[in-house]
Amino acid sequence: MARLNRQWILKKRPVGDIKPGDLELVESPVPVPGKGQVLARTIYLSLDPTNRIWMSDMEQYMPPVEIGEVMRGGTLAVVEESNHPDFHAGDIITGVGGWQEYSLENGGHKMAKGIVPLSAYMSVLGMTGATAYFGLLDLGKPKPGETVVVSAAAGAVGSIVGQIAKLEGCRVVGIAGSDEKCRHVVEDFGFDACINYKTEDVAAALKRECPNGIDVDFENVGGEILDAVLANINLKARIVLCGLISMYNADTPVPGPYNFANILMKRARVEGFIIIDYWPRLGEFFAHMSKWITGGKIKHDVTIVKGLENAPEALGMLFTGGNTGKLLLQVSEEP
Ligand SMILES: NC(=O)c1ccc[n+]([C@@H]2O[C@H](COP(=O)([O-])OP(=O)(O)OC[C@H]3O[C@@H](n4cnc5c(N)ncnc54)[C@H](OP(=O)(O)O)[C@@H]3O)[C@@H](O)[C@H]2O)c1
Repeated sequence: MARLNRQWILKKRPVGDIKPGDLELVESPVPVPGKGQVLARTIYLSLDPTNRIWMSDMEQYMPPVEIGEVMRGGTLAVVEESNHPDFHAGDIITGVGGWQEYSLENGGHKMAKGIVPLSAYMSVLGMTGATAYFGLLDLGKPKPGETVVVSAAAGAVGSIVGQIAKLEGCRVVGIAGSDEKCRHVVEDFGFDACINYKTEDVAAALKRECPNGIDVDFENVGGEILDAVLANINLKARIVLCGLISMYNADTPVPGPYNFANILMKRARVEGFIIIDYWPRLGEFFAHMSKWITGGKIKHDVTIVKGLENAPEALGMLFTGGNTGKLLLQVSEEP
């Protein structure tokens, strides 16, 4: 009997939060690799806030997933069969295999085995680590002694941004959604302070924790948190617009920043970026980050949920704060 491949198909574009019926779990035969292809078995599926953007037809940086298509997603997989001269059964590769158990790839990036946990290639040494690295250093340009604020500070990107900013000699203040997350980023990741945005007046708390004002804002959230930051920025502040997670589930137009005028008054710079533009420089990131990790200078965290059938529900954790560090779905066992 043919082996079966479970796949999540986008059935309709979610309105607001993702709901049952927006995606459907279907089965089809495991595909057969053609010339130049490999059959890859997914081990980890990356769950990212941008998955919610890809499900929508909002203006975005790559085509949305079409209705009826397998949901797009970053994957770490093991090669089971290869018709590609450079890949062999047992190789570990990263790619965009999607929300399914098996995918056909034309190659992918080969990852070394036995040096770091495989999950690290999907977090600190993967897309979210690179986002933290290039966003902070290229756009934020932090200088020693400056103050850096990071929202979603206990998450995949935020936790790494804060640690790199500390290595650059900055005061680092995080913003996160619970006392436990705040304790974690201060005690385990070495941030100087962290504000629980659910229990504190963020603008007032930023004034207290950033006595010299804010020089760099690494913005992951937007909305009221961005407004509170804008109320506290310094002359020539840099606002690194990485993400706006507070808006991704909105089903009505979202108001712009209330304190927008401060960008003018403080001659600040706001710059958005998308990590895919930095792929040509991944080697530089990999070299620096590997050294930091092996030198014990950067720590990282993953939250792992098991089972492809749990993908939509697990993705929802990103919007309720259910994750700490990188959220991954384990689809099958590591070899
Ligand atoms: N520009 C790029 O190329 C790029 C690449 C990767 C990621 N990103 C962006 O970076 C941001 C972080 O992504 P990530 O993968 O590292 O996710 P993450 O931070 O690991 O997870 C998302 C976190 O956001 C917080 N959050 C969710 N809804 C919120 C709200 N309404 N208000 C405040 N906080 C909220 C939650 O933490 P709390 O418990 O603290 O609320 C949640 O754990 C996202 O905006 C994402 O789109 C951008």
